Amino acid sequence: MTSARRHSSTGPRAGALVSPGLALLLSLTAHCSSTQANSTPRAALAATADPWARANAALLHDFWCQPASQLPREQLSALVRSLASKRVPLKAWQLSCLANLAARLGLQEDFALHPPDLLLFYNLSQVRAADCRAFTHRATQGDPELLANLPDQRAALQQTAWTCLGGPHLRLSASDLVLLGALVCDMDAASIQTSDPSVLQNLLRCPRLTAAQAAALNTLLASGRTLLGPPGSWKLEGLQALGPLAAYVSPRLWEQVQEAVALDFFQSVVAACRAGRLRQRDARRFVTSFLEAKSPSVSSRPKRGTGRSCVRGNITAATLRDDLFLVHYDCAQLGACLGYPVLRANLNPLLQHPLPAECQRVVKAKLSQIYPGGIPEDQLRLITSLVYLYSLAEISRWNITSRDTVMALLASDGALQNQTEAVLQKFLDHNGTVTGALLVAIGGSRLCWMSPLQIQAIRPSELRLAGALDISSCPQSRKNVLFAKAREAFSSTRSTEEYYPYIRPYLGGASVDELQHLVQANVSMDIDTFTNLNPSVLQSLSVGTVTSLLGQNVGDLQKARSHPTISSWLRSLSGSALRKLGLDTNPSSPSPGLGTPQPSWTTHLALHLAPTSGLPESEAGAPASGSLPVLWRYLPLPVALPSGLLWLLL
Ligand SMILES: *[C@@H]1O[C@H](CO)[C@@H](O)[C@H](O)[C@H]1NC(C)=O
Ligand SMILES: *[C@@H]1O[C@H](CO)[C@@H](O)[C@H](O)[C@H]1NC(C)=O
Ligand SMILES: *[C@@H]1O[C@H](CO)[C@@H](O)[C@H](O)[C@H]1NC(C)=O
Ligand SMILES: *[C@@H]1O[C@H](CO)[C@@H](O)[C@H](O)[C@H]1NC(C)=O
Ligand SMILES: *[C@@H]1O[C@H](CO)[C@@H](O)[C@H](O)[C@H]1NC(C)=O
Ligand SMILES: *[C@@H]1O[C@H](CO)[C@@H](O)[C@H](O)[C@H]1NC(C)=O
Repeated sequence: MTSARRHSSTGPRAGALVSPGLALLLSLTAHCSSTQANSTPRAALAATADPWARANAALLHDFWCQPASQLPREQLSALVRSLASKRVPLKAWQLSCLANLAARLGLQEDFALHPPDLLLFYNLSQVRAADCRAFTHRATQGDPELLANLPDQRAALQQTAWTCLGGPHLRLSASDLVLLGALVCDMDAASIQTSDPSVLQNLLRCPRLTAAQAAALNTLLASGRTLLGPPGSWKLEGLQALGPLAAYVSPRLWEQVQEAVALDFFQSVVAACRAGRLRQRDARRFVTSFLEAKSPSVSSRPKRGTGRSCVRGNITAATLRDDLFLVHYDCAQLGACLGYPVLRANLNPLLQHPLPAECQRVVKAKLSQIYPGGIPEDQLRLITSLVYLYSLAEISRWNITSRDTVMALLASDGALQNQTEAVLQKFLDHNGTVTGALLVAIGGSRLCWMSPLQIQAIRPSELRLAGALDISSCPQSRKNVLFAKAREAFSSTRSTEEYYPYIRPYLGGASVDELQHLVQANVSMDIDTFTNLNPSVLQSLSVGTVTSLLGQNVGDLQKARSHPTISSWLRSLSGSALRKLGLDTNPSSPSPGLGTPQPSWTTHLALHLAPTSGLPESEAGAPASGSLPVLWRYLPLPVALPSGLLWLLL
């Protein structure tokens, strides 16, 4: 939205020497450098609270490399530092090219003042040995998921970390773990089991755990080596310190936890979920595993003889207010004890409980008894957690007249991909329009699941208002349709310089001709956008075209050479073409492919490291760019997490 506004407010400026984007950056950096020069950390903190600074953070969020590439060294340096101090969340496509700009001007050595996320993209061969620990420590405070399309860079970062630690070794100490940060998420299960128990703090930063990692976590917890002690002596505070990891605790462990403690914890999780402080998906995973452990004690009776009759007492509005409701009623009892009038009047309180899937199906069946003609619109907004259970035929009986209903149904992760089209169609049938705000609310990935006709119906002005939507997860056929749509919407833009920012998110559907056109305009495409190009279009591009297309970012091919799209293109090239690109040597990463570069455990170099030596001093004040509050990363668990429900605030 900001870029659209900026575009319309600049007006014609033919022949202007300074582009609008550059003018903006110049004014920002001028201000940033002056605050930077004469401010204490306290003043800097105060600055982030003022509206001016906040507005600028929003503009910086729209950071664009092309104008920034014209900045002189001092101004780019000020810009990068202000991105760090304002904690502007940048995307991979912005960070990858900014890292190159900074490296070209020799700014990489100031890494201690740069955003941790930016460090992830730096040229690691330029990190001096003396800086190894300080650099790695700051970089691993960033979000390694940003390197999703740059597998070789991710592997290289892991390598750099191991180099600082004197090589891979089996038993990771607490100080090793502080240095490795979220890189631990890439490690195999065996190393989790043998690590210092503070590995829990590293695991807290993983967006998800593999089944093997979850099993290792359970083994570690069962061993009693962690600060929680053996499961039989777990306390509420310890469980709360587990944060999102509690969702991975196996039923076998829950069986060993003292009942009163376990129930207290259950209650706190459900309360947080009902208050909207915890995602239902996470709460449901926990509840399902927990109830699996506890089920013999609460639900053995109905299975013997009593069949489907209600033995736990009729469910009332008061029953539903109890956070332990799901402990008292299993899904069979829910079916038997929930009357239609109570359900109709209490749908919202009921669905605020993180119901296991089986219970959700019971509720759905009851709703279809109450509403045989289809669920009325005012109730639809309450059932977003059940939407995934509805077939396309059932959805076609709904009336969706308001944008709020569409948002409720599609903005959550409740609706499945293939239900998007049906839900949206009901809205369009009632003369609804897909606005830019709606697109932003439901997210770019929903565009992947609209029909070509629905995409065609989006007004170009609305697509502009939506700004940069992330459609990288779309199938190729849909990317092609979206590209055609975006091209139509943005082709009236005067120059390629102005067109490129709008079209960039849609280039995954671009043809060879379109890319040739961009080459003429010297766009210097970032590597993240490049990895999302149509693989078969890429096959028809020559080395010369790719080199011109990437411009000053061409060296980044090295960071992504194992990415499937890039590696299949590279395989089609001759040896001399590869040499021209500087890619004639083997990949630096020992294991091409996303994810898991493993240290070799056979070379067991148990190195003794002085704790936290070489780490920068001001860690507690470093920007948090990952998803956890800064406090979690540096303090031992009991200090970081007092008895409160801190983790539930995430
Ligand atoms: C429970 O509900 C059923 C059906 O609504 C009703 O017949 C029964 O009397 C109720 N039982 C109690 C104890 O209120
Ligand atoms: C949908 O709207 C039509 C016309 O107003 C109405 O007859 C029908 O009952 C509604 N269906 C549902 C499920 O609300
Ligand atoms: C939607 O997709 C899910 C899996 O992605 C599938 O199980 C389901 O049958 C599909 N539903 C329809 C109506 O196509
Ligand atoms: C949609 O608009 C058309 C034309 O304005 C009108 O004829 C039709 O009744 C409208 N449909 C609904 C469901 O409002
Ligand atoms: C692109 O770069 C080349 C070489 O640097 C230059 O000759 C050409 O004029 C540039 N084209 C545009 C549109 O800026
Ligand atoms: C990274 O730095 C090394 C050493 O200075 C240099 O040889 C290499 O070309 C650089 N890589 C890129 C992609 O710029």
